[in-house]
Amino acid sequence: MASLKTGEGGLSKVVLTTNAGGAGAATATLYRHGATLTGWSVGGEQLIFVSPRAVFQPPKAIRGGVPVCFPQFGNLGPLQAQHGFARNREWQLAAGSSSSSATLVLESDEETLALWPHAFRAELTTSLLPSGALQQVLRVTNTDSKPLEFTCALHTYFKVSDIANASVVGLKGLQYYDNAAGALATDAAEAVTFSGEVDRAYIAAPDTLKVADSGRGAVLMVHKRGFSDAVVWNPAQAKAEGMADLGEHWRGFVCLEVAQARSGPVVLQPGEAWEGSTTVQYDTIGEGAD
Ligand code: BG6
Repeated sequence: MASLKTGEGGLSKVVLTTNAGGAGAATATLYRHGATLTGWSVGGEQLIFVSPRAVFQPPKAIRGGVPVCFPQFGNLGPLQAQHGFARNREWQLAAGSSSSSATLVLESDEETLALWPHAFRAELTTSLLPSGALQQVLRVTNTDSKPLEFTCALHTYFKVSDIANASVVGLKGLQYYDNAAGALATDAAEAVTFSGEVDRAYIAAPDTLKVADSGRGAVLMVHKRGFSDAVVWNPAQAKAEGMADLGEHWRGFVCLEVAQARSGPVVLQPGEAWEGSTTVQYDTIGEGAD
């Protein structure tokens, strides 16, 4: 049974564990604040980046981990706040969680209705699979009597040895919106690499993508379902210096986000639900890297 513990800044967190066979133990840590996953390790190897400058003080979003962008990704929707409000709010731990799986729930209330006039229920179920893989399922239900639409993302910050060693594979030939340039473009490269700011929202991305880190010989296979799009982001030095909770630590991560973004919003009729998921498997290069 997953239980609540006290984490950074006195905030409550849930720690999940499983014995991943030959890979050793896997653990995951989730904060109720923002339903933000702040750690996932397999065999002692930490695979998720949280900025050493992250501020654990609601309503500020935790910089790093896997915050939930909902009911808006970026500025793709009616809200003022970039990425919506779910990452700034306290989620509740649902009954029925186990030692390796927990569901956090966010429901509309007076404050969310003032920002976005829709009744909803969002559930994020995070599980460690027997292999040690990390699975996250976001389910959104329209509990209102009128239709609602939203964009969203699981904004995953993968830890890398150095951004210069990181690449993202599987996006060749796709159209993306380049947020840095403010224009659409088509990706012609075999892999996305990082020699400066990268902020790309890929449209209709394939369901299997790969993050490789040549520095530590690691590969992460990302399998998404339900989410149409994928976002790749690293701000590089100049932009990171303007972010008080990141600063010099920008070299330590690459964001590969599964998203419902430029493909258009999810539209739900009253009573309908939508589900998007991602499963991430960790491997070392040479064992499943191709
Ligand atoms: C990415 C966006 O998803 O998130 C970027 O594509 C943005 O444009 C980044 O800069 C971080 O956003 P925030 O709001 O957490 O600083």
